Amino acid sequence: MKRFCRYLMVSSCVVYVVVTLIAVYKLYCVVGDKESDGISQLHYPGTNTHISKTEYLKISLNSETTVKRSNVEIWGKAAIAKYLWHHILDGKVENGEGGLVETGFKILHGINFTYRYGPGVIQTTVPSDVEKLVLVLNGRSEEKINVAKQWLDYVPLYKKLTHIAVVLLGDEGCSNDWLLPYMKSRGGRIDVAFLVYDSPLIDNVQFYQWPLGVAVYRGFPDVKPKDLDLKSSRSLTCNFLGTIYENSSRQLLSDVIKKSGLQDSCYIKGRKKWQPNETPETLKIYMSALLKSDLTLSPVGKNTECYRIYEAMSLGSVPVVEDVVTPGNCDTSADSPLRLLKQYGAPIIYVKSWHQLHIVLHQESQLTVEEKAARRIQVTEWYKNFKTHMSASFVQVIEKKFL
Ligand SMILES: *[C@@H]1O[C@H](CO)[C@@H](O)[C@H](O)[C@H]1NC(C)=O
Ligand SMILES: *[C@@H]1O[C@H](CO)[C@@H](O)[C@H](O)[C@H]1NC(C)=O
Repeated sequence: MKRFCRYLMVSSCVVYVVVTLIAVYKLYCVVGDKESDGISQLHYPGTNTHISKTEYLKISLNSETTVKRSNVEIWGKAAIAKYLWHHILDGKVENGEGGLVETGFKILHGINFTYRYGPGVIQTTVPSDVEKLVLVLNGRSEEKINVAKQWLDYVPLYKKLTHIAVVLLGDEGCSNDWLLPYMKSRGGRIDVAFLVYDSPLIDNVQFYQWPLGVAVYRGFPDVKPKDLDLKSSRSLTCNFLGTIYENSSRQLLSDVIKKSGLQDSCYIKGRKKWQPNETPETLKIYMSALLKSDLTLSPVGKNTECYRIYEAMSLGSVPVVEDVVTPGNCDTSADSPLRLLKQYGAPIIYVKSWHQLHIVLHQESQLTVEEKAARRIQVTEWYKNFKTHMSASFVQVIEKKFL
């Protein structure tokens, strides 16, 4: 009996050892197979960096997410959509240029943006299965706000829609409160809004500052520095072409120029009434004046931020800007007006009043031809880089809020 017991124990010991050996062998084989499947030998294309298995897995996961690209629709119902698409995002239009609906595609940071613009973009012609949307709207007048509201009221009917951003040409007096009930934080649908003009709403959480840009609505083009002659001297010291409202600082500017006998070196062309429709002819005259001028004077209009500031910089003319907050509800803190341009260190000359213009012009007369040429290059490069920064930060905010 004792013998039998010992025999049983020994044999179960043997069985145990054999089973353990098999298990260890199996484990080794599986690991060995994995080691020999070639993954551990992978190299990054174009580099000599050896990547480990975990790194490879991470990379293939990443490329998988890039393949399953996130689609974001951009629907333009304000001319600033063209500034966003062509000037900031450097997008192209592939179909229907100048027609009822223009469309374009662009992949930025792994996001597939589809752009639709034109009078044919209406609630029922856009893809109703939209999931992620950037809506570009005009909120400058009562009439425009009503159109914008129609879009925002329609949005809940797109059943698959999960995220929405708005780029808004705001009111020049910064009264954009009509938008608030549409924000997600107040029970609406909008995740984030990009606002033009120094609104007190800007918090870099729900509301981001957006630049006015050049006047695409009157056909101002996207000019690249390489297409400009920046080295040659310019015939005019300064220019101002615009509406001169009675008793405004624009009137003062015009008077200062006249009194100081600057009519010859500064081209001032005022009109009494604002004209919305530029003809190709007037646009040519306007652009030619900016191209001929070292400085472009920018007196405040209904707001301090004028298309002229961006237009001048794009053509290598330094803006001389009246640094004054206009009446209304715009931000009055120390970095306003033009907080975005100031934050990015725009090469602008600021004056508090046009009575200071003679100081600016005196400094100007001290500059050499070479210094002026260098400054022109600097201004156009700054503007180009500014657009690149705006593109990156726009995409970054969309990525953060939408994905
Ligand atoms: C981007 O989206 C458009 C519209 O949904 C689609 O036609 C196109 O194939 C997409 N491009 C890529 C590279 O995913
Ligand atoms: C401009 O100022 C003058 C004098 O202060 C005044 O008589 C005139 O009514 C003002 N015009 C406007 C349009 O405000």
